[in-house]
Amino acid sequence: LDNGLALKPTMGWLHWERFMCNINCDRDPENCISEQLYMQMADVMVKEGWKDAGYEYVCIDDCWPSYQRDAQGRLQADPQRFPGGIKKLADYVHSKGLKLGIYGDVGKKTCAGYPGSQGYYETDAKTFADWGVDLLKFDGCYMNWTMLGEGYINMSRALNKTGKSILYSCEWPLYEWAYHKPNYTAIRETCNHWRNFDDVFDSWSSIKSILDWTSSHQDIILPVAGPGGWNDPDMLVIGNYGLSHDQQESQMAFWAIMAAPLLMSNDLRNICPRSKKLLQNKLIIDISQDPLGKQGSCTGKFDSFEVWERPLSNNRLAVAVLNRQEMGGPRGLVAIAIPGWKICNPQCNVTQILPEYKEMGVQPLLSKLVLSVNPSGTALLTITPIGKRVDMHKS
Ligand code: DGJ
Repeated sequence: LDNGLALKPTMGWLHWERFMCNINCDRDPENCISEQLYMQMADVMVKEGWKDAGYEYVCIDDCWPSYQRDAQGRLQADPQRFPGGIKKLADYVHSKGLKLGIYGDVGKKTCAGYPGSQGYYETDAKTFADWGVDLLKFDGCYMNWTMLGEGYINMSRALNKTGKSILYSCEWPLYEWAYHKPNYTAIRETCNHWRNFDDVFDSWSSIKSILDWTSSHQDIILPVAGPGGWNDPDMLVIGNYGLSHDQQESQMAFWAIMAAPLLMSNDLRNICPRSKKLLQNKLIIDISQDPLGKQGSCTGKFDSFEVWERPLSNNRLAVAVLNRQEMGGPRGLVAIAIPGWKICNPQCNVTQILPEYKEMGVQPLLSKLVLSVNPSGTALLTITPIGKRVDMHKS
C-alpha cells in the first residue's frame, strides 16, 4: 500500500501467540488482556533495549473490546480491563516514543466473537484515528469469502480518509486461499502486509510448516513484496516455550531472509538472555531491514539441507542454510554448494552471523569453506563480492 508506511518490514510486539484471549484479570492479572499489559511491554521495550534495536509497535490483538458498541455505534474497549480507554493508552505508548497497534475484523465478528467492523468501516476507522492508533491488524473471520476483497479495500479507503497515517495489516489472502488464488496485485495496493498462511504456534512443526508453505508458493508471493507491502508469515515466537535455541535461531534467520514483519509474541518482562540477544542481534535485524527491500527465497534443497538467499543492497547476499535432518549432530555443507556462491567470482568476503559471529575472510570461487549446521539449526551468512563481477561486463 502506497501510504508512506512500512517502507521496511514492521518491527514490534503483538500479544496474540503468547497471551491469546486471556481475559481473566481476577485470576491472572499479570497476563490478562488489559491496558496494564501493553503499558508494561512499552516500559520494558524502552528500558531493555528493544526500542533501540528497532522494535517500535506495541500491538493489541483480539479480545480488547467490549461486546457492545457505544450509543453512537462506536467500538469501545472493555471498561474493566481498559479503564483509561484506548486513547489514553495510545498517549502513554507515544510518550515512550513507541506506536500503538489495534485489532479489528472485516466481518461481523472477530474470531473470538467480539464486534466486527462489517457495516462500520468508516466509523471504526475514524474511531481508531481519533484515538491516535498507528496500526490496524484486520482479521477475516465471520465474513463471506466473496466479500473479503471488497471489505478489505473499503477499510483501506476508510483509513486513508481519516487523514492519519495508519499502517494496515491484513489477513485477506489467508482467508481467500481456502477458495481460490488471491489477487496479490490488489492485496499489495490495499495493505502494508498480509498474512498468507496459518497462525504460528509455539513449536518447531509450526515454523517448518510456514517455511514449507512459503517456499512452495514463492513464485506467487515473492514478486509483490517490497517497500510498502510485505508477506507476513506471522509472529516471532522466540523467547517462549516450544523452540530449542537452534530452532529460535532458525526462526530469526528465516524471518529476516523472508523480509517478514518482526512482531514478537512473547513476554518481554521475563525473557531469557539468550533469546533476548538473538532478537536484538543487529546484524540479523540489518538483513531484515535492508534498504533494497527484496524478499529472499529458497534456492536449493538437497541432502536434508535447505538454502535460502536474500539479495541485499550493495550487491551483497544473505544466505541461510537450514539443517532439516532432526537426527544426529551438526552436519557440514561445503559453501560452494550454495547457488549464490557464484558472486564469489573471483572472490568474496564472508561473514557468519549465526550460529555465532565469525569473520570467514576472503574466499575464492572454489572455496574449501565448510559450514557446520546443527539439527534444525541455521547457518546465516552475508557474502560481499570483491573484485570484478560477471554482471559488470554486461552492457
Ligand atoms: C486469527 C488470526 O490469524 C490470529 O493471528 C489472531 O489474530 C486470532 N485470529 C485472534 O482471534
